Amino acid sequence: MPDLKINIAGVEWNNPVTTASGTFGFGEEYGQYFDLSALGAVCVKALSAVPRLGNPSPRIAETPMGVLNSVGLQNPGVEYFKENYLAKLKTYDTKIIANLCGSSIDDYVKAAEMLGDCVDMLELNISCPNVKVGGMAFGTDPRSTEEITTAVKKVAKVPLIVKLSPNVTDVCEIAKAAEAGGADALSLINTLLGMRIDIHTRKPVLKNNTGGLSGPAVKPVAVRMVSQVYHAVKLPLIGMGGISNGEDAIEFMLAGATAVAVGTAGFVNPYAWVDTVRGIEKYLVENKIENVADIVGKAELY
Ligand code: SIN
Repeated sequence: MPDLKINIAGVEWNNPVTTASGTFGFGEEYGQYFDLSALGAVCVKALSAVPRLGNPSPRIAETPMGVLNSVGLQNPGVEYFKENYLAKLKTYDTKIIANLCGSSIDDYVKAAEMLGDCVDMLELNISCPNVKVGGMAFGTDPRSTEEITTAVKKVAKVPLIVKLSPNVTDVCEIAKAAEAGGADALSLINTLLGMRIDIHTRKPVLKNNTGGLSGPAVKPVAVRMVSQVYHAVKLPLIGMGGISNGEDAIEFMLAGATAVAVGTAGFVNPYAWVDTVRGIEKYLVENKIENVADIVGKAELY
């Protein structure tokens, strides 16, 4: 059988598949469907130093090829996570990634300090499009990106992934800023800012007016950005955006992703994560490739 192990910023995963933060809660729901040890890593919902209520409802809307969400980083806070979810997650043979959010640099630093080394990796969420302060505001400006990355890296006890927004003119500029700030890896893409309007009420479908689009519709945008960033920085990448199966995952890996995250697909198929692992393995067997790491960045660009 092919070797599915990957190494990302010094952390070895059993296979390249993880969960896209915010689509998987803290593992308790999908853990009822399959053994989470089947995944290379589990990335939990964004965590802040103090609990957040998120945005008012409605905050989810379907679209023809995806989902618009305006959740607003609702979460129970780092302390609650540590007391109520972490022990169970640690029973699985998988790596744990905590996605970090906040409204100020100090908030992010505090959350990183509170987490310490009780998870395997941190993912800096500077790309959520659904909050007025923090989130995407940091990740759409190179100076802010570098500043917050430097601040969190200073206190981080485990490798730091910076999650990039697609809502920028030049994603490579932001990727380079994160690299300059000391990021150990990058993940991309977060959701694309979108909007739906109810033609009968003439009001936006989401109470927040706008939301972030995920799902198959965003996949070509995500593959393009992964390919661009792969050629612009030296950091390992976690690719995501519309991945539903092994073939989608292989496309991202050929573009330059060392690992991939599945998210929205899990809402229609709770086994999408394990199907993706199996699909990657099938592709490697069929193409007589012994090591999954050998396909990373192997797309032959014109
Ligand atoms: C949200 O909670 O609004 C979504 C999370 C994100 O976009 O990072």
